[in-house]
Amino acid sequence: MISEIEKKIKEVKSFNPKDFKDVENFRIKYIGKKGFINHFFSEFKKVKSSDKKAYGLAINELKKLTIQKLEDLNYKFNSVNTSSIEKEDLTRPFSVLELGSRHPISIIRDKIIEIFYKIGFDVSEGPEIEDDWHNFTALNLPEHHPARDMQDTFFIEKNPDFLLRTHTSSVQIRHMENNNPPIRTISPGRVYRNEDISARSHCFFHQIEGLYIDKKVSFSDLKQTLIYFTKELFGKSKIRLRPSYFPFTEPSAEVDIYWGLNSETDYRITKGTGWLEIMGCGMVDPNVLENCKINSNDFSGFAFGMGIERITMLLYQIEDIRILYENDSRFINQFKNSI
Ligand code: DAH
Repeated sequence: MISEIEKKIKEVKSFNPKDFKDVENFRIKYIGKKGFINHFFSEFKKVKSSDKKAYGLAINELKKLTIQKLEDLNYKFNSVNTSSIEKEDLTRPFSVLELGSRHPISIIRDKIIEIFYKIGFDVSEGPEIEDDWHNFTALNLPEHHPARDMQDTFFIEKNPDFLLRTHTSSVQIRHMENNNPPIRTISPGRVYRNEDISARSHCFFHQIEGLYIDKKVSFSDLKQTLIYFTKELFGKSKIRLRPSYFPFTEPSAEVDIYWGLNSETDYRITKGTGWLEIMGCGMVDPNVLENCKINSNDFSGFAFGMGIERITMLLYQIEDIRILYENDSRFINQFKNSI
C-alpha cells in the first residue's frame, strides 16, 4: 500500500503538463472526489495498525505535494489572466485628463472667421505653393512691375515660376476663377517672405484676406464692414482710412484703429499717436476682376488683408513675434482658458 503512495509521490513530483487542460485532469485524478488521495484515505482503516503511522505520513506528504504542485501550475498557466485582473482596480479614482491649449494664432483666426461668418462670409483656402499668375500677375502685378519688390519672395522654381505665396490675396484670384458673384469670402492662411527674423517680423506668418464682389459695392460698404469688424474684435470702432497703394485695389487704403493713450504701453505701441495700423484694403481693381473673367462693368467689390500675428500680439500684448513659433508650453498654456 505505502509503496503505491510513494509511486504517486514520484509521479506528482515529475508531472510536467503541456497546458492547463493537463493540469485540470491532474487535479481531478489526485484531489477530485474519486481521486487517489481520497481513495488512499478511505483505505486507511484497512491498514495494519503497525503501518498506520507511516501510511498516514505518506498520504499527508502526497496531499501536501499535490496541492503545492497545483498552486505552482495554476500560477504558471494563469499568470497572465490573474495578474491583469488584479491590476485593474475599478474603484481607483479617474486619472486627471490633461487638456492642451489652443495656439493664440488659431484662437484669433477663429474669432475673425466668426465675426465675418455672422455677416455672410464663407471661408476659402488656397495652396501655400503658388504659381506666378495667382500670386502676382492676375493681381495686377505683371512681370518687372516694381511693386513685386514690396514682397520678398521665396522662389521654388523659375520659368515657369513656382513660389511660396507671399500673401493670401492669391486665394482671391482662385476664388473668383471658380465662383460667380455675389462673392463674400475670407481666406485665412500661412504666407512666406524672405525677411530677416526679428522681434517684429518673421519669414512666415499668417494673414486673413477678405473679398466681397457684387453689383454696386461701394467704398462706404467697405468702411461699414471694417467698422463692424473692429468693434466686434477690439471693442473699438474709431477707425481711419489713409490713402495708400496696392496694385490689386484702386483706390487703396491703410486702416488705422484708434487704440487710445491710456497706458504707457499704449504710448509705446502707437508711438505716442494713439493710432495703430491693422490692415490694407481697397476697391478691387477692374483689371483683377477681368483677369478672373468677371465683368467689371456689372460688378465691383472690395478686398482687405491683415496679418493675424500682428492682431494677436496687439490683443494679448505679446512683445516678440518669435515666441509664437517656439511652441514653449509655458507660453502656450497661458491660453488654456481662451476660446
Ligand atoms: N496682400 C497685401 C499684403 O500682403 C494685403 C492687402 C492689402 C490685401 C490690400 C488686400 C488689400 O486684399 O485690398 O501686404
